[in-house]
Amino acid sequence: MPSDVLQKARDFEVQYGSHIPDNERPAFHATPTIGWMNDPNGFSFYKGECHLFYQYHPYSNEWGSMHWGHLKTRDFLRWERLPAALAPDQDYDSAGCFSGGAVELDDGRQLLMYTGVQRERNADGFIQDVQTQCVAIGDGVNYEKWGGNPILDGKDLPEGGSTIDFRDPKVWRDRDGTFYAVIGNRTADGSGAILLYRGIENYRGEFVRTLDACHNQYGKMWECPDFFPLDGRQVLITSPQDMCPMGLEFHAGNGTLCLIGDYDTEKGFTRQAAQAIDYGLDFYAPQTLETPDGRRIMIAWMQNWDTVNSKPYNCRWFGQMTLPRELSLKNGRLIQNPVRELEAYRRERVIHQNIPVCGEINLPGVQGRVLDMTVTVRPIGPERYRWFRICVAKDGEHETIIRYRPDQGLLKLDRIRSGLPHDIVHTRSFLVRSRDGEIKLRIILDRCSLEVFVNDGEQAASAVIYTQQEADAITFEASGSALIDVEKYDLAFDGQEV
Ligand code: FRU
Repeated sequence: MPSDVLQKARDFEVQYGSHIPDNERPAFHATPTIGWMNDPNGFSFYKGECHLFYQYHPYSNEWGSMHWGHLKTRDFLRWERLPAALAPDQDYDSAGCFSGGAVELDDGRQLLMYTGVQRERNADGFIQDVQTQCVAIGDGVNYEKWGGNPILDGKDLPEGGSTIDFRDPKVWRDRDGTFYAVIGNRTADGSGAILLYRGIENYRGEFVRTLDACHNQYGKMWECPDFFPLDGRQVLITSPQDMCPMGLEFHAGNGTLCLIGDYDTEKGFTRQAAQAIDYGLDFYAPQTLETPDGRRIMIAWMQNWDTVNSKPYNCRWFGQMTLPRELSLKNGRLIQNPVRELEAYRRERVIHQNIPVCGEINLPGVQGRVLDMTVTVRPIGPERYRWFRICVAKDGEHETIIRYRPDQGLLKLDRIRSGLPHDIVHTRSFLVRSRDGEIKLRIILDRCSLEVFVNDGEQAASAVIYTQQEADAITFEASGSALIDVEKYDLAFDGQEV
C-alpha cells in the first residue's frame, strides 16, 4: 500500500502530468512527468527492461522534498511513464529520498538503495543533514521500504567520515553473486572519498575499503559515484562539488570526473588517469548500466546546479536527461557515443559532400531541431581556415554556435544568443585532438538541447537551449577555406509504440 505522501504524488501526476503536450517536451530525452527532475537514479535492467528513476519534486519546477520519479524504456529513447516510486514518508527520510541505485535480486524482486535524509539542529543551532543508506524492495512498480532501515549509518563509516555528506549509493551484483555499493562521503580533510561496501543483498553493508579520495585536488565533496569494468580496465566516476578550473579540463562549480585505473581485491583501486566526462555546460551526476548484450551505457542529468535558476518562465517540467551514451576506452581515455538504437529513428537522409565553405552558407535540406547530423571539416587551399563555425537553432535573433580553431585545437560551445534571459555561464571551450586541421562533429538536437560528439566520441559536450522552436536554421561559416561533408537525418518518434 503506498503511503499517503506517495499516493498524493501519484494522484498529482495523474491530475497534472497529462496537461503537458508532447511537443512541449524533447522528442526522445527523458523528462519528469511533472515538475522538477535532477539526478538519474537506479538506471538498471529489471526483468529485461531498462528502468530509470530520478530525483523528483512533482509539485513545482524547483528542487524540493525529494521523491523518486520512474520511467522505463526498451530502447533508451522512448520512455514509458510509471507512477512515482518513492516519497519521503519515514522519519529516516523525512527530508528527502536522495540519489541511489537499483538492482534485481536473486529472488526476482527489485531492490532500490537510496540515501535517506533527516534534518537536525547542530551545536551552533544550524540545521544540518543526517544522511543514511536505506532500501526498498518491489516488483518494478510498487516498492516497500524495509522495516530495518537504515542499513548503513554513521557507525558504518571509516574514521573521520561525515554523516552530513554520506550519499548516493550505486549498487550492483558482481559476477560472484555478491552485491556491492559505492557511496560518496566527505572525509576529515573536508573533501570527498568513494567508499565500497558489500553484502547489500542481506540489507546491510560491510565496509570494504575507500576506493579513492579527493584530498582537495578535484573539488570538495564527491557525489554520485559509479564503479565499473570497461575494456579490461576499471573506471570510477563521480561528480565533484566546488571544483576549480584546471586549464580547460575542469571548470569551476559542479563538474564531473572520470578516474581510469585497475582494481585488485587485495590492493584496491589504482588510479592512472583523470579526465572530465563532458566538456559542455549541462552535465552532472552520470550513472551507468550494463546491457544484456554487454554494453556499458551512461546517462546523466543534462543540467548543472550552477545554471538551474535560468529556465523558461512558468515551465511545467524542468530538468532532462542526456541521450544515453555507449562507453569504451581508447588510448587510456573515455570514448562516448550515442546509443546505437538512435539510428533506427533516422529519417530523410540528406547528404552533401566536398562542399567548399568560404564565408557563410546554408545547405538545402539542412535545418531542424530534432536531428542527428555529422559534419566533417577539412582545410583546403593556401588559405586554410582559421576558424569554422556551425550555428544551429538559428533565426534572425537567435543562434547557438559550435566554433573550432584548428591552430589552437580549441572547440567552443556558445549559447549566449540562444534566448536564455539570465547572465549565467553560456560558453565553454575545450581542447580537442588535432588531426591536421580536420575535425568530425556529430551533433544531436532535440528541441531544447544540443549534444556534440567530437571525433567519434573522443569528447562530448552537452547544453540545454530554450530557443523558440521556429528557430531551426543551420549555417556553416569559415574564415579562410574549408571543405565539408554533411550527413543529416531527421529523428522521428511519432506513431512508434513504446
Ligand atoms: C547531486 C545531488 C546528490 C543528492 C541529490 C539530491 O546532484 O546533490 O548528491 O543525492 O542531488 O537531490
